[in-house]
Amino acid sequence: MLRVAVFVSGRGSNLQAVLNSPKLKNLVVVDSVISDKKNCKAFQIAADNSVACFSLGNDKESISYSGLADFLKSRNIDLIVLAGFLKLIPDSVIKEFKNKIINIHPALLPAFGGKGMFGMNVHKAVLNSSVKESGATVHLVDETYDTGQIIAQRKIDISDLNSAEAIAEHVLKIEHELLPFVIEKFATNKILVKNNKVDVLQ
Ligand code: GRF
Repeated sequence: MLRVAVFVSGRGSNLQAVLNSPKLKNLVVVDSVISDKKNCKAFQIAADNSVACFSLGNDKESISYSGLADFLKSRNIDLIVLAGFLKLIPDSVIKEFKNKIINIHPALLPAFGGKGMFGMNVHKAVLNSSVKESGATVHLVDETYDTGQIIAQRKIDISDLNSAEAIAEHVLKIEHELLPFVIEKFATNKILVKNNKVDVLQ
């Protein structure tokens, strides 16, 4: 079983999609949910599914950012999944878990990504740009926001959608398919990372 830690900051609908995925049931164990926000809705989802929750921060009860890599190693984590996590992952974790950290982004990277491009900011920028397609991207995580190599993308036609909220709603549906799909590929060793390319085997 692939041991996964899911990082969250808010609602947790992607976490829920991972926990609900029938395909992942026999392949993946969500060992822990980790958040920089103590009262996020995602923690409730984790608790409802008997998944251990850990907060990240500088207070006594939390895992510190400097101790995060050791914490993840102590739990034998194979894959780190950022699902709506808003902070940067410390360099020590990036080094220790090279090519083992993925993020889901609600647009077609490399467009509409980077610092500040989260939540509705992304969908408003997409709407204002008048692009005809949007979608979701799962990518490897490196030291900066949204710049790691792209693993998989799904596109949707948004030419008939007239609000950022409508775009967000349609994109979220495909996020909930794309993230479990990519995790399944990791669990079945079908992700090959080469120098400048990530291959996803069938
Ligand atoms: C999703 O749109 C995800 O792509 C982005 O943050 C949002 C998190 O939503 N990174 P949720 O917490 O999974 O509901």
